[in-house]
Amino acid sequence: MRHDPLAFLGDELGGLKAQGLYRHLRVLDDEQAARTRVDGRSVVNLSSNNYLGLTTHPALKKKALAALEQFGVGTGSVRTIAGTMQIHVELERRLAEFKKTEAAVVFQSGFAANAGTVAALLTKDDFVISDELNHASIIDGARLSRASIKVFPHRNVKAAAEIVRDLPKAGRKLLITDGVFSMDGDLGALPALCDVAEEHGLIMMVDDAHASGVFGENGRGTVDHFGLHGRVDVQVGTLSKAIGALGGYVAGNRNLIDFLQHRGRPFLFSTSHPPSVTATCLAALDVLAEEPQLIQTLWRNTKVFKDGLRALGFNTGASESPITPIIVGDAGKAMQLSDRLFVEGVFAQGIGFPTVARDKARVRTIVTATHTQADLQFALDIFARVGRELDLI
Ligand SMILES: Cc1ncc(COP(=O)(O)O)c(C=O)c1O
Repeated sequence: MRHDPLAFLGDELGGLKAQGLYRHLRVLDDEQAARTRVDGRSVVNLSSNNYLGLTTHPALKKKALAALEQFGVGTGSVRTIAGTMQIHVELERRLAEFKKTEAAVVFQSGFAANAGTVAALLTKDDFVISDELNHASIIDGARLSRASIKVFPHRNVKAAAEIVRDLPKAGRKLLITDGVFSMDGDLGALPALCDVAEEHGLIMMVDDAHASGVFGENGRGTVDHFGLHGRVDVQVGTLSKAIGALGGYVAGNRNLIDFLQHRGRPFLFSTSHPPSVTATCLAALDVLAEEPQLIQTLWRNTKVFKDGLRALGFNTGASESPITPIIVGDAGKAMQLSDRLFVEGVFAQGIGFPTVARDKARVRTIVTATHTQADLQFALDIFARVGRELDLI
């Protein structure tokens, strides 16, 4: 019999199982919504990034269908050959307007936007100064760039400034933070990091994947929230979370965007979005402008749920956004909590290493604008019951 060169994978998977970190994919039987069916069970869904409920918004579906009828299902090319349609150009114009920058460029995903941008901006002679909890796509982009990676403790601006002071004069330096940290729901220390960047002449970059559509005027993100327009050189956003569809983008000055169109490898070497996706995103920008009550409801729901969890005595960390972790510590226990919640009708994923530190396993919750008060109360009641059962509160 042929030797299986992939046999080591069985050992790796066995290790995951032993640590309680092996997961089966949960499968939705219905649309992405606040109440849906998952693995055959009716649940209140606290696991989705669909902050404003736009995945099923009628205006977005209508525009997607119209674009599909008019332009077909795909583009058949990368952007730089024959895959740029008018609709792509229009979306980038609108995103720049939304972010109040000169220009914007769309990538296939937020991951591609971060990784492609960091890798394009830096070389092996350069430096990335990065918050320790920044997203994997930033870390991978930094590794691809071959720049030296300097990590500062989470939100510790003083430590970041000290790192910068010790760097050699030569070389480009990119200071980077998530706008909202995806596993903790706290905000990056953007205003103080901007000061450091200005003092030392660094490139300042923010990943606003979880802030766009959530923070700032009409969801413009953390740069707008903190009043930092003109002080952040590179703003990344996603089209796959609050916007409800798929994709990522970079907004900044004209040179940055021109450069990324020439050196951003995912932009150059991967096919562009189907027109229906792009039309969906355009419609979402209209909704952000025309239905500000969605963001208001999101924040009202966030407060109700977060206050409820804290009143029950759960450790919800330092969250300041609709993302609220319930920090448990042990991975096995976090998965047990998630599984018990699920059986009772609440879908809140357990998250362990390597997504979070080994001793910081958690169940992560995200409320949306489309959860009703009854949904939130139902979820809180189940959290109370299961939390007591597992001795967490
Ligand atoms: C902070 C952060 N940045 C980037 C991404 C990647 O975005 P996308 O899912 O659009 O690839 C995610 C989420 O997956 C994220 O949480």
